[in-house]
Amino acid sequence: MPPHLDLLLLWLLVVSAPVLASAATPSTAFVPADNYLVICGTSGSATDTAGRTFVGDGRLPASALAAPQSVEANASLSSSNGDEQALYQSARIFTAPASYTFAIKKPGRHFVRLHFFPFRYQSYDLAAAAAFKVFVQGAVFVDGSYTPKNGTVVVKEFSVNVTGGSLVIAFTPTGKLAFVNAIEVVSLPDDLIADTAAMAGSARGLYTGLSARALETVHRINMGAPKITPANDTLWRTWLPDQSFQLDSSLALAEHKEVLPSAIKYTPVATPWTAPVGVYATATKQSTSGGTSTINVQFNVTWRFGAVAAGSDYLLRFHFCDIVSKAATGLAFNVYVGAWLVLDNYEYSRDTINTLAVPVYKDFVLGAKDVKGGNITVSIGSSTVGVSNVSPDGFLNGLEIMRVLGSAGAGAEPSKRSSKVKTWIIAGSAVGGAAVAMALAFIAFRMLCRKRGKPEKKASNSTLSPFSASALGSRSRSSGKKSNGNTIVLGQNGLGAGYRIPLAVLQEATSGFGEAMVIGEGGFGKVYKGTLPDETPVAVKRGSRKTLQAMQEFRTEIEMLSRMRHRHLVSLIGYCDARDEMILVYEYMAMGTLRSHLYGADDLPPLTWEQRLEACIGAARGLHYLHTSSATAVIHRDVKSSNILLDETLMAKVADFGLSKAGPELDKTHVSTKVKGSFGYLDPEYFRRQMLTEKSDVYSFGVVLLEVLCARAVIDPTLPREMVNLAEWAMQWLKKGEVDRIVDQRIAGTIRPQSLKKLADTAEKCLAEYGVERPTMGDVLWCLEFALQLQVASPDDSVIDGMPLAPVATPQVQRIQSIASVATDTAMTANLGDLDGMSMSGVFSKMVKSEEVR
Ligand SMILES: *[C@@H]1O[C@H](CO)[C@@H](O)[C@H](O)[C@H]1NC(C)=O
Ligand SMILES: *[C@@H]1O[C@H](CO)[C@@H](O)[C@H](O)[C@H]1NC(C)=O
Ligand SMILES: *[C@@H]1O[C@H](CO)[C@@H](O)[C@H](O)[C@H]1NC(C)=O
Ligand SMILES: *[C@@H]1O[C@H](CO)[C@@H](O)[C@H](O)[C@H]1NC(C)=O
Ligand SMILES: *[C@@H]1O[C@H](CO)[C@@H](O)[C@H](O)[C@H]1NC(C)=O
Ligand SMILES: *[C@@H]1O[C@H](CO)[C@@H](O)[C@H](O)[C@H]1NC(C)=O
Repeated sequence: MPPHLDLLLLWLLVVSAPVLASAATPSTAFVPADNYLVICGTSGSATDTAGRTFVGDGRLPASALAAPQSVEANASLSSSNGDEQALYQSARIFTAPASYTFAIKKPGRHFVRLHFFPFRYQSYDLAAAAAFKVFVQGAVFVDGSYTPKNGTVVVKEFSVNVTGGSLVIAFTPTGKLAFVNAIEVVSLPDDLIADTAAMAGSARGLYTGLSARALETVHRINMGAPKITPANDTLWRTWLPDQSFQLDSSLALAEHKEVLPSAIKYTPVATPWTAPVGVYATATKQSTSGGTSTINVQFNVTWRFGAVAAGSDYLLRFHFCDIVSKAATGLAFNVYVGAWLVLDNYEYSRDTINTLAVPVYKDFVLGAKDVKGGNITVSIGSSTVGVSNVSPDGFLNGLEIMRVLGSAGAGAEPSKRSSKVKTWIIAGSAVGGAAVAMALAFIAFRMLCRKRGKPEKKASNSTLSPFSASALGSRSRSSGKKSNGNTIVLGQNGLGAGYRIPLAVLQEATSGFGEAMVIGEGGFGKVYKGTLPDETPVAVKRGSRKTLQAMQEFRTEIEMLSRMRHRHLVSLIGYCDARDEMILVYEYMAMGTLRSHLYGADDLPPLTWEQRLEACIGAARGLHYLHTSSATAVIHRDVKSSNILLDETLMAKVADFGLSKAGPELDKTHVSTKVKGSFGYLDPEYFRRQMLTEKSDVYSFGVVLLEVLCARAVIDPTLPREMVNLAEWAMQWLKKGEVDRIVDQRIAGTIRPQSLKKLADTAEKCLAEYGVERPTMGDVLWCLEFALQLQVASPDDSVIDGMPLAPVATPQVQRIQSIASVATDTAMTANLGDLDGMSMSGVFSKMVKSEEVR
């Protein structure tokens, strides 16, 4: 199956999510590319409980079975109790090494299930005489210590990544004989096992290389019962109930919960193949009644799993699906492996964007040296944060414990585990299944540490949100290693994994990206209106171009918006990079673009002069923040009226940071770069000399001011030639001082001349030929504030030539005054956090000074 088909299948799964909740729906069935179901020692066939037909190995082609000395054994079970025993009527007995070879159509992970049921056949007592090893692809899967129990069925399940065209299973007797009753070799979905997992136990960091490893299923548990048989599993797995593994079950610390299977909302993060509805629709949770009737008592629910051989690493997969809560938020609990806290104050709702009943899973690897005494214990416990008000909220839906073959002490290769990594936890940073994310978190974190020169001790609630171009490319889905150079470090302001939104959530939010929801379309792709599960209205921008530039812009936007937070910058709510998607989710700006309120959209009434000035002031604040909030200015590079958005109160915010760039370092005076931006807004200096500075944004903003003034398109090819380019045409009139000739006639009569002149002057300065002649964004901001004040102040106010003087009457004037009084010692270059008060004061003091000089 080519990857695209794979993708398509998943898409279908998502689209039909509610339908497929009943796992039996045929369209959701996994169709394995390789599907060998063999019963051994016979030429007959048999049907198992799941309705699958097993064919006798006597019918395999001669090349498939190399068994020079083998015996076909017949159990002749009189008490054959139906299907359950159908696979165990016969066995093939080997008295010398032998092997099965299966041709593999599609490389990738496969289940290898070996069925053993010892019985007596003629002189062979299988239970007594059998001692053997099983090798798969040359590696030991079953070692000589395995002794089958009389009359008991044992199914040993492995998953192995087959890279070549065939799979060889070899049996070598170490005692008198070897035998096997049935064999399954079945393809698995490629993304079932990720390459990486967070380390649990005494080692910290990221465990890598899982995708190349074979795994042996040691325990597979359906928390909250019942047993799930192959017939009820999407991949013919068996899940056992947890009851018998629970410690202190007499204390009634735990209770079972169950919902209808139809309540489960699968997403591409955890699909029906990850675990069937039977697993997610039941859970074991901390009891709120039972032994501990009072809330605020901290306790754990613990399970102990035996039969854990020493000398191997173990992969533990926790399945979570909140079917126990009434509200989606406010729930947190701890998860332990042994004595180690692996999920600290785990908030399920952060992984599911506050949606209940969404399956999620988390992988951890427990290193061999932490596996002692033949047991692994796992606990869920009350959160230790906010001790005064903890409720026993912990729950668990499923748990898989898999031995990592060939790991650590087990022999073959040394573990690739990154043991050098210092004490920090990335656990919990990745939504389950986001293997790439984990790998990248690791890389990103390392880069961050290197950059900062000192590693963080602990980042338990990870502030990293890794992202990489390669995560978008279909080829490198499972490889985090290659993407080193592309990794962006996010999250100084805490853009955590919670910002990654599952695709299914966005599909639901936008009615499946329906055309009716489209509210805009640009070079990047379409923009949809959507509503998140918690009712937050959002704008969902979905990338359609899969070009390198598009990917870069996507990354830049996430990086910029997660670093830059300001009330005049459109805020990023989340993003989705699953399945090659490039989706950005923003706060919804109800009134759309500034442009649409100026011209082009005939049905919208023209904005008043005050509204226009307020919008410009808001946008200028946003840009000023970009230019000044960090040591290296950020240059937007695509300032235009369609990138300035208005919310329902007409407050303006700057959007679209795809082209933005960190500006000149202190020792440089400009960034030289390929010219990008929008025609009609381009700074001529930048255009000619590829010199990018903040003043390029100032130029573009000047063009926006002209749009506001004239309410016409920046480039209008339908007009006479001298009028086509707004900047050229308007500047001619402005230089002549005839702003009245170009002002929007619809509102011209409402504008006070001084205010109009102030804006026209500001626009003219912004459009100065050379960057050095243009004002800073801070200067522009002040001029606009002043233009607004000139418009709204009552005629009696003493406003003399550009400077407001006491007495002051309007709120605006008062604001400027009060700011001025605290402004004098505020440096412009200060690292401004929020800017509304601070920046204005800085701006004001600077303006006062420069005005004084003149
Ligand atoms: C096993 O023995 C039973 C009766 O003893 C017979 O009916 C059946 O065909 C035999 N099966 C094989 C595979 O020899
Ligand atoms: C296994 O059970 C069979 C019959 O149930 C019996 O004949 C045989 O002796 C048993 N073998 C062992 C090792 O207990
Ligand atoms: C199988 O291993 C190969 C090579 O190690 C790797 O490229 C591939 O992604 C793996 N496949 C799966 C499904 O893990
Ligand atoms: C398991 O499957 C059978 C039929 O295949 C169905 O009757 C039964 O309800 C299923 N059980 C669960 C727990 O889904
Ligand atoms: C829960 O188990 C962990 C790990 O064994 C332990 O550190 C913690 O103290 C336990 N909490 C309670 C309340 O018993
Ligand atoms: C492992 O579990 C068994 C019971 O299943 C118990 O007897 C044994 O003491 C446990 N080992 C350790 C180290 O706890």
